[in-house]
Amino acid sequence: MEFSQKKGLRGEITVPGDKSISHRSVMFGAISKGTTEISNFLTGADCLSTISCFRQMGVDIETDGNHVLVHGNGLHGLKAPSQRLDVGNSGTTTRLLSGILAGQRFASELDGDASIRKRPMRRIMTPLQSMGAEITSLNQNDCAPLRIVGKSLKGIDYLSPVASAQVKSCVLLAGLYAEGETRVTEPELSRNHTELMLSAFGADLTSSGKTAVIHPAKELYAQKIIVPGDISSAVYWVVAGLITPDSEITIRNVGLNPTRDGILEVCRSMNGQVSVSNERIQGGEKVGDITVKTSELKGTVIGGSVIPRLIDELPTMALLACFAQGDTVIRDAQELKVKESDRIAVMVENLTKMGADVEGTEDGMVIHGKCRLHGAELDSCLDHRIAMTFAIAGINASGTTKIKGAECVNISYPSFYEDLARLTRG
Ligand code: S3P
Repeated sequence: MEFSQKKGLRGEITVPGDKSISHRSVMFGAISKGTTEISNFLTGADCLSTISCFRQMGVDIETDGNHVLVHGNGLHGLKAPSQRLDVGNSGTTTRLLSGILAGQRFASELDGDASIRKRPMRRIMTPLQSMGAEITSLNQNDCAPLRIVGKSLKGIDYLSPVASAQVKSCVLLAGLYAEGETRVTEPELSRNHTELMLSAFGADLTSSGKTAVIHPAKELYAQKIIVPGDISSAVYWVVAGLITPDSEITIRNVGLNPTRDGILEVCRSMNGQVSVSNERIQGGEKVGDITVKTSELKGTVIGGSVIPRLIDELPTMALLACFAQGDTVIRDAQELKVKESDRIAVMVENLTKMGADVEGTEDGMVIHGKCRLHGAELDSCLDHRIAMTFAIAGINASGTTKIKGAECVNISYPSFYEDLARLTRG
């Protein structure tokens, strides 16, 4: 796909539903009693993988566009799948589902695409095994395919070495089926959608600071869920609005959960004109509209506790930094290496091809700002967030930018190119 320089992005955008919340609404609905009704569900490929895994385990799920009905089987009602569960490209499906599968009365196998087969699963295998689970990496490389034989589990007090909502959620979901109390403490607080939503479904779950505690449940109960727009999809328009000359964009109905809103803080620290209006609480999650305007930006340091609050937005923040005066340092972000691609290596390679002055470090990047980008031939490495970041780079670079594998945006934002076309038409 090809992109060329644009200016004057003006208008309103509504981004699709939040990926993390969409996954969880199906998973928790599937193990609850009654029918969970989900609106504004993200119909990206990752969330469709979650739906198909639960259908394989006997859960009746009806979909009508973004409207989904999950007829739950109750906490102990999942059926043994007759085939391997296909998680596609989805790390969230793999890790959260593993926590649920560990406590079932059947054996199952999970596998996904080439990217999933490289992503680290030791981080969930270790805590699950200490709860008594039987989980093995079939290629003995601590990656998928995984085989999980359901066992009776016991609660643990787990000090997670990584700030990862996927690890935390996996252990908490296993804790639903475990004897006694399960406790997870993170080095920094990661997104807390599991804690908020599982409590709403009736789980005995409390959290305080960086620790969440769950007790086994007898039953969970269906809920009505309205999924807010995904801030991880809004970031492309936030950055496009800040760096594209003569722009003003409003993104409506964006989830602004405080464990996800790190971009607001970082953009403001870079002098970005970002304002939030119409703030409200919807189904336990904070939501609002974000307006951004073309800004004179300056470099900043992005590190420490803000990292888990913008982990998926860091590639786009690196692009933003190219347009800022001075240096931007991204640190404490070694997790970027184990996402859908090695996002440090891929960002450095692609930004460099476009003429940016950027260095990769062990735990992030250093971007020397105010470089002029020029078009280049780039590989998305089939990573949706890389493809979208470089589409925004392409409309802010001279010449033509060609992106290989650009269609991978269907993982989290199937209508991305239509929205881009609409905004650039003015
Ligand atoms: C997610 C958590 C994050 C994030 C991913 C979605 C989730 O991963 O990068 O896109 O829904 O829990 P980690 O928890 O591994 O950092």
